[in-house]
Amino acid sequence: MTAREWVIVNPGGSHRVVVTRELPGERWLELLTAADCRVEIAQGDEVLSEAELRAAFGEHCAAAIGQLTERWSAQMLGAFAGAGALIYSQYAVGYDNVDVAAATRIGLPVGNTPGVLTETTAQLAVALTFAAARRLAEGDRMMRAGAYHGWLPNMLLGSLLYRGTLGIVGAGRIGGAYARMMVEGHKMDLLYYDVRRSEELEAYVADYAAFLVAHGERPVTCRRAETLPELLRACDVVSIHAALTPDTHHLIGAPELVAMKEGAVLVNASRGPLLDEAALVAHCRAHPRFRAGLDVYENEPAMAPGLAQLDNVVIVPHLGSATTFAREGMATLAAANVAAILNGWPVWSAAQGFADVTPFLDDPEPPRAAPSIVNADGLGLPRLCAQSATKEDQQ
Ligand code: DGY
Repeated sequence: MTAREWVIVNPGGSHRVVVTRELPGERWLELLTAADCRVEIAQGDEVLSEAELRAAFGEHCAAAIGQLTERWSAQMLGAFAGAGALIYSQYAVGYDNVDVAAATRIGLPVGNTPGVLTETTAQLAVALTFAAARRLAEGDRMMRAGAYHGWLPNMLLGSLLYRGTLGIVGAGRIGGAYARMMVEGHKMDLLYYDVRRSEELEAYVADYAAFLVAHGERPVTCRRAETLPELLRACDVVSIHAALTPDTHHLIGAPELVAMKEGAVLVNASRGPLLDEAALVAHCRAHPRFRAGLDVYENEPAMAPGLAQLDNVVIVPHLGSATTFAREGMATLAAANVAAILNGWPVWSAAQGFADVTPFLDDPEPPRAAPSIVNADGLGLPRLCAQSATKEDQQ
């Protein structure tokens, strides 16, 4: 194995910040430079091994921006904090690869990047939904193979979905955005399954239903399913948007797949282990009219044996947040988390009406706050309160 190369930005900076991958955009580096950071960026496409990560912190490191492909275990975080680190900032909204409980125990803030990738990821789920329902990958393969010999009435018939029933498992930011895109665009009735009621989503769909009625059309409906099987039985499309936790591991397995409609579409753009991939392979083999669209896998980058051979599955390589806008914005938020903690600034508080992260992305003078620290409450970190939301008060 050849030694990894590192690019150093602002070599004279006082705080060593290790960044485990090259990130897109410029703003993130400007924020870190303004916070007096020396930024060390790992080069290459290989995931940093645990040994490389530990060597990268060395004896002295103020912060790291890391990736969902790395395992930030209790031991790793302990070594990191031992090097004097003040924050770990994840370049993603999901953080199931980070032992947040351990970080909280040792007093280490963990940042993430919500808000900036919501529409991008929801859009990818919509794309997968229709790629699967309308058999786009099969059509693409047919064309490339020179197997299209002219229009036929029965060729590659798919599902319309328009005015059908949509199910989302998890009605958070991304699930809600996906639901709105599908309900508004395709006039689908919505069933959602979530531990919490989403009054916001229900109100949104109710308003849209009133709009349809005002235009002489049949309204759409929105209801929270009492149980997961209830949702699975009723829906033409089921899209998974829950966070991965020990409780949601294999949330959809063989019994859940059997509960779904014979010709349903299943989409997963959240985390692979929510879905029992081997069970999905068996189900898709046995039910050729069933379709799935996958962005994430149980053991990335590997796939379950047989998955890649299935015609009724569309598979893409974890592209959920892959737009220039989202990926540059994620870099900005990850860096803003680091800059804020190193500067001793408070945490931007979504709970107090600060969910919109655009000021971090666009404002010449971004808010003096950390956009998102997932264990802020556990650590008792101060939050930017509603009264101090104006620019002047942030100075
Ligand atoms: C996230 O941010 O968690 C996404 O999976 C990255 O694409």
